[in-house]
Amino acid sequence: MLTGAGSLERLKGRRVIVIGAGVAGLVSAWLLREAGATVTILEADTRVGGRIKTVRHPWLLADSYAEAGAMRFPVDHELAQVLIDRLGLEKRQFVMGRPERIVDCMNLRTTRGDYQADPRALNAEFGVDDARGSGEILAAALEAITPERHDTEGWRAHLEQYGEWSLRRFLAEQAGFSEDLIDLVGTLENLTARMPLSLTHTLLSRVFLARGTQLVEIPGGSDRIIAALSELAGPVRAGHKVTGIDSTAAELTVTATDSTGRDRRFTADAVMVTCPHPVLRHVEFTPELSYHKQRAISELHYDAATKIMLEFDTRWWDPDGTTPGGVDVTDGPLRYVVYPSHPQGTGGVVYASYTWSDDARGWDALDAAEAARTAVGHLERLHGPVVGESFTGGYHVESWARNRFTGGEAAVYMPGQAVEVGPDTRAPEAGGRLVFAGDGTSTAYRCWIEGAIESACRALRQLDRD
Ligand code: ARG
Repeated sequence: MLTGAGSLERLKGRRVIVIGAGVAGLVSAWLLREAGATVTILEADTRVGGRIKTVRHPWLLADSYAEAGAMRFPVDHELAQVLIDRLGLEKRQFVMGRPERIVDCMNLRTTRGDYQADPRALNAEFGVDDARGSGEILAAALEAITPERHDTEGWRAHLEQYGEWSLRRFLAEQAGFSEDLIDLVGTLENLTARMPLSLTHTLLSRVFLARGTQLVEIPGGSDRIIAALSELAGPVRAGHKVTGIDSTAAELTVTATDSTGRDRRFTADAVMVTCPHPVLRHVEFTPELSYHKQRAISELHYDAATKIMLEFDTRWWDPDGTTPGGVDVTDGPLRYVVYPSHPQGTGGVVYASYTWSDDARGWDALDAAEAARTAVGHLERLHGPVVGESFTGGYHVESWARNRFTGGEAAVYMPGQAVEVGPDTRAPEAGGRLVFAGDGTSTAYRCWIEGAIESACRALRQLDRD
């Protein structure tokens, strides 16, 4: 069993409905079953897995696959690592900082390695006179205010002082960055789109994902986690879109529309909601939820994220098998190009563009075919004709903001939300019979599988009451 969920003794014999078959829902269902509860899992999509979504199909070459959702797992995310190990899955390195990869900004093209060796020329293009690289400059600025851990006095004091601050405000007002320096760091560290979001978010990813932290991936695809978890979690009623939760009686009633359009009713002693807040807005609660919970559901900021994946029949980024993985950074629309860390099939699928927030919105305005075509053109400008020559025509575009079952990528706090909304996302309703999980409700690991697991353990402890 996973640590952190507590004894769960009082759940024996209880009937629990779990809404959502992503990692939070499946982990919960598994632990509930082990505790002797009777579990019903309802999932709106016809697919299980939530934001773990390994794309295996639109490809032209045998054995190609790519991750539309979770693709990398920090080794210091303990719960995720324990889960992967407990499921008996292999892990291998997810390669991030490959020096051969391209940095193409301000009409100057260099490599990550060359920029690190001597950042001055590119810095000067941005109007910045500094011999340090953008990563080092940012680290130095944030270092001073990064608490050891999130559960300490230091973190509380931090929230008191900086809870209302955006990343941009901190860099401009406290760290004394010039406009040019903000521009440089935003562009090269892929933080431009996060500037108006909370400082807390960027800091948390630093506390738990300090630069240089190792990342791993699951050979064969992240959805192996889902396949293994599903066996433990029990049957999922997929294609059941929840429209209402009624807790007026001793039993709770959940109404869901099935794939034939018919309404189905399910009753239980308790309900665990794990779906993202943007889609939760369309669920009708009877009686109404508390004001604070309603506000948390409607206000918690969910970011946009879009991945444009293109399939190639030649591994031009890794011709002799010695340069896998890594990311290109560009100030063009692609922003961030991610290369596969290991060969997957005979060719390979490249994340031609992985964008967040407003960087993603421009892509979301295009339909998938248009986005793929446009991305091929931009990638060709970065890497030459080999891109067009080896493109198989296979692509997949995943916009999480436009995804019907999530309505966003993940919860990234706006300034102030850590204090104003965060606690309400975790609060139970209906006298403790209705609890909320999902990474968006996690204290410190939103946007990560770790947060899905942490939130599930916390929600189970909340249910484990007389
Ligand atoms: N965990 C995600 C990843 O590995 C990143 C989430 C951050 N998202 C964001 N919109 N800032 O890529």
